[in-house]
Amino acid sequence: MNAVLVGLQWGDEGKGKVIDYLCQKHDVIVRFQGGNNAGHTVVVQGKKFVFHLIPSGILREEKICAIGNGVVVDPKVLIEEITALKSQGIKITPENFKVSPLCHVIFPYHKMIDTLREKKRLHKIGTTKRGIGPCYVDKVTRCGIRMIDFIDSKSFAEKLKDNIINQNYIFRKVYGFKGFSFEEVYAEYNALAKKIKPYVCDLVDYFYKSRDKKFLFEGAQGTFLDIDFGTYPFVTSSSVITSNACLGSGLSFIPVSKYIGVAKAYTTRVGEGPFPTELNGKYLDYFRNKGVEFGATTGRPRRCGWLDLVLLRRAVILNNITELVITKLDVLDGLKKIKVCLGYKRSGKVLTEFPYDLSGIKPVYKEFDGWSGSVCQARKFSDLPKNARSYVEFIESFLGVKAKFISVGEKRESVLKK
Ligand code: IMP
Repeated sequence: MNAVLVGLQWGDEGKGKVIDYLCQKHDVIVRFQGGNNAGHTVVVQGKKFVFHLIPSGILREEKICAIGNGVVVDPKVLIEEITALKSQGIKITPENFKVSPLCHVIFPYHKMIDTLREKKRLHKIGTTKRGIGPCYVDKVTRCGIRMIDFIDSKSFAEKLKDNIINQNYIFRKVYGFKGFSFEEVYAEYNALAKKIKPYVCDLVDYFYKSRDKKFLFEGAQGTFLDIDFGTYPFVTSSSVITSNACLGSGLSFIPVSKYIGVAKAYTTRVGEGPFPTELNGKYLDYFRNKGVEFGATTGRPRRCGWLDLVLLRRAVILNNITELVITKLDVLDGLKKIKVCLGYKRSGKVLTEFPYDLSGIKPVYKEFDGWSGSVCQARKFSDLPKNARSYVEFIESFLGVKAKFISVGEKRESVLKK
């Protein structure tokens, strides 16, 4: 069965590990949006593998991994990632790794404008400064450079020159920054293009011919970072929800029947923006330390809070989620009491509708008793302490969706099937 997997919160739900687990049952793993603003680590037999662009399915030799047209690709990061993975013994060839010719490419001026614009903003977004937003801006204003243009040196030179002239003008006039040299950027990036060229492949054609294979579409970020449905403007610049999987990969001829939503057993967020269940003080320290809540891409400490079921219910609807995966249940191990947000109040009044503006919201909590001991060794649902099972069952009944898997540790095998 073909499936789309997405995050239900603000990203960092542990999707990488889940993909690594689920791809056993799929042949092809496709990313459809975002770029190297995403990041995750998969631990296999004590070895750590870091991913920003390539689907973690690449760790399994027989799988095919692809980067769809909806992704923005930083060629420097892609080559670094390929090199690092190869040096760790992972096979990456044009046979098992493919990049759409229609992906837009990130250049140094995108990263620079991301940083400079953020500095000047009245309300900072807290972007990853990876040039993601500015690259999508160029795509939409029709001056972006696609992979197909990038790997053709003549076309690349022409388009790059045009962009650099325009960007340098803005850099000088608005930001007092001298800008970039066309010759330098061209020389460096043309060399990268040559390395990437063998992986560029017409995915529509290739996958149409192999449409009988089992596909897994891998979402990056999380539902509330979605450009339309997230906590705008504190969002990323792409559509992260399940319905974008077809558009961001061009593979609408692949019928999807499984929509898998991944949620942490609590909530985290990096960057600015509203966060109703956010914690401070000793609970923040607890989650940050126990859950190692530091961004895989930027190393920034993550904001942490209790599980917000109002947000999750919205995410389940938006993504048409058919099964849940709950991650990091083990992080709750040491808590005597665990809170879960079941509703919102504004100015003392309980809200009956989902608010478009989450600022100034006060959560309405239900409190659960924690459990003694650790869930880390559990491999079956029945191995979990009673209170941990009740916590999971409450989430399922509130959301009206069953949890299929629960992750209880960072190791590949620390997953229990429900
Ligand atoms: P951008 O995607 O770099 O433009 O950042 C926009 C917002 O999305 C910022 O708040 C980032 O911290 C957040 N963001 C982007 N990618 C991720 C991710 O993979 N995990 C968590 N937050 C992310």
